[in-house]
Amino acid sequence: MNLLRAAVIGTGFVGPFHVDAIRRGGYGEVVAVAGSDRERTRARAAALGVPHATTDVGGLLADPAIDVVHVCTPNATHVALATAVLEAGKHLVLEKPVAVDAGAARGLVELAARRGRHAAVALTYRGYPMVRRARELIAGGELGALRLVHGGYIQDWLANPTDYNWRLEPEAGGASRAVADIGSHWFDTAEFMTGRRIEAVFADLATFLPRRSRPVGGAALAFGAASGPTEDVEVRSEDAATILVRFEGGARGAAVISQVSPGRKNGLSLEIAGSRSTLDWDQEDGERLAIRARSETRILTRGPEDGPGPGPGIPSLPAGHPEGWAEALRDLLRPFYAAVASGARPAADAAAAPYPTLAAGARCVAFVEAVLEAARTESWVQIRG
Ligand SMILES: NC(=O)c1ccc[n+]([C@@H]2O[C@H](COP(=O)([O-])OP(=O)(O)OC[C@H]3O[C@@H](n4cnc5c(N)ncnc54)[C@H](O)[C@@H]3O)[C@@H](O)[C@H]2O)c1
Repeated sequence: MNLLRAAVIGTGFVGPFHVDAIRRGGYGEVVAVAGSDRERTRARAAALGVPHATTDVGGLLADPAIDVVHVCTPNATHVALATAVLEAGKHLVLEKPVAVDAGAARGLVELAARRGRHAAVALTYRGYPMVRRARELIAGGELGALRLVHGGYIQDWLANPTDYNWRLEPEAGGASRAVADIGSHWFDTAEFMTGRRIEAVFADLATFLPRRSRPVGGAALAFGAASGPTEDVEVRSEDAATILVRFEGGARGAAVISQVSPGRKNGLSLEIAGSRSTLDWDQEDGERLAIRARSETRILTRGPEDGPGPGPGIPSLPAGHPEGWAEALRDLLRPFYAAVASGARPAADAAAAPYPTLAAGARCVAFVEAVLEAARTESWVQIRG
């Protein structure tokens, strides 16, 4: 694999994990980071040992030496930045949700295809070895005919009225908050594991904290409780959602999505019942999955065969040395960087790509829109996309 040159736009919470993933995966050299605040971006670059820091994204994209650009900024900036990256002829890694509306998301899919650039979306949970194992087991018929898929994604980092973040502001995060931010991961992981598309949704949204304390002078960076002077503001997006889903082929399901459930940190879970057995997986114990039948329960653990395979960079930890979210992002990007390094054009059929494409990202946005519409109209809504 050639050593590629990468840049990361956005150096808040997730951006530094992209820097780490590129380095630990041995995919390339991180030559620059870009941010919205000069001093903060410089400090981040110094802390991460990245040689160049800028607030001038246009200048960064004009550098012919940069091959791949990661966009790790708030949701509402994704489409404009991703468009600029692709127009500049760079390959793209884009954070989810790829857009705050489905039409713009579809536009990005078309642009990447026209430009012939590889474009991956950080649908991180697909990178877990046991999520991939679950997908293989289900595809191999281990569970029998699928019946029920349920679980959720529950957190507590917005449980108090003093918890504040740009995700609360539709101008930055989009019309949906909990569903777009984390429900989209549950949706994608459910479809990825089962290999089935969710056709329709019915949903109920709840805003338990209708007012919050917003830091004066701007929203906090990710996961920060308000400190210093605050102002009382109205909350315009959902704290939680309960969603019913119908899969192609007849399976049914349900998800509880919440950012306000005290004591729950990053509880992404899925239980999938078939005619023969039931599989369950929980992100917080992500190196194991259970297969339950009427007279036995088997706990499967990550083994050497579950690794991402040989590649450059620091190898995966041996089984028994827990890996998790950061390694999933690293491993998700391995086939993307291999595809870029190969010089081959992206597959015309997005489903054939070895990494989650913009089409998968656009499907998550279509899911979010369908959930909002279902809640508004109190009816089942087909997912269009
Ligand atoms: N895949 C995952 O598991 C995962 C996890 C966390 C966050 N995310 C996604 O990553 C994105 C960023 O989230 P975060 O939690 O890191 O946010 P954050 O607020 O911590 O960081 C955002 C960064 O973007 C910078 N920024 C804002 N506007 C910019 C612009 N126009 N140009 C350049 N830089 C700009 C800010 O200065 C900040 O450094 C979101 O879309 C979020 O949904 C994904």
